[in-house]
Amino acid sequence: MPHRPVVILTHPMPEDWIAPLREAVQLVVGPAGVAGVAADLRPHFGEVEGLLTWLIDRVDEHLLAEMPRLKVVSNLAVGVDNIDLEACSRRGIAVGHTPGVLTEAVADLTFALLLAVGRGLFTAAEDARAGRWGLWQPDAWLGTELNGSTLGILGLGQIGQAVARRAHAFGMRVLYTSRSPKPEAEARWGAQRVPWETLLAESDFLSLHVPLTPATQGMVDAEALRRMKPTAYLVNMARGPVVQTEALVRALQEGWIAGAALDVTDPEPLPPEHPLYRLSNCLITPHIGSATHLTRRRMADLAISNLLAGLRGEPLPHQANA
Ligand code: GLV
Repeated sequence: MPHRPVVILTHPMPEDWIAPLREAVQLVVGPAGVAGVAADLRPHFGEVEGLLTWLIDRVDEHLLAEMPRLKVVSNLAVGVDNIDLEACSRRGIAVGHTPGVLTEAVADLTFALLLAVGRGLFTAAEDARAGRWGLWQPDAWLGTELNGSTLGILGLGQIGQAVARRAHAFGMRVLYTSRSPKPEAEARWGAQRVPWETLLAESDFLSLHVPLTPATQGMVDAEALRRMKPTAYLVNMARGPVVQTEALVRALQEGWIAGAALDVTDPEPLPPEHPLYRLSNCLITPHIGSATHLTRRRMADLAISNLLAGLRGEPLPHQANA
């Protein structure tokens, strides 16, 4: 009988998504509704060779020390800030992630949020539902249109570029700040690379698409928010801690900026009593950037391919560490 390695899937996923995994390995599935690799799974730690994680699971030195046979961690996300990559590399553990397959879904949601926050869709819809739709008025529910506005993109990776492509089609001027120049985006969508301070000062919409790293953590702080136009909108599709939450609350309360749309927050989930929910100029969605039927299925397929390659000792289709 061929060797069937033990694999931990940290939380349940639809059975038809994980069928190929069940066939190939001895699958141990963790509990729903708890973030992290549950302590209940500890009896399997000694034998586990593969770990399929969600972005709510922390994989650190501590955990790795308990898993001496681990060969591969496959994260069901493009971001890998929940995983200590260096610790994995030191132990020869491959880390997989899911770039590419989610690019268009995330760029779509970015545009949904840009339009929603710029046109105040959520307050207008709430007003209509609550019976506050009086006679049509020329100066009610006025917003900002995308055409002719300047979009500032922080981080012009695959997702940032898919956003730039949409922005160009919407008639926006596209500025970006990125570690390296992207000549193709400049040629195709007229994107112009500018320093961070210029991006802050000139954007009508500022959209965040950087990974969470020590360099990007807290990048959108009080000083950055004060540099933005009072008419500008912030959209965060990256990771919550890229924005300093307390500074953002003040910026929205005191009108340093016009509004924000956040698909990611710090903390996550954002507790129901959080002041951001009380602000009519803040739209919050529960980290749904890649949440389409097609994309989540593709992410599961890719995460499983990464995992199985790692178990075989082969290079992963998408590996995040060296
Ligand atoms: C989602 O946030 C991801 O990193 O895939």
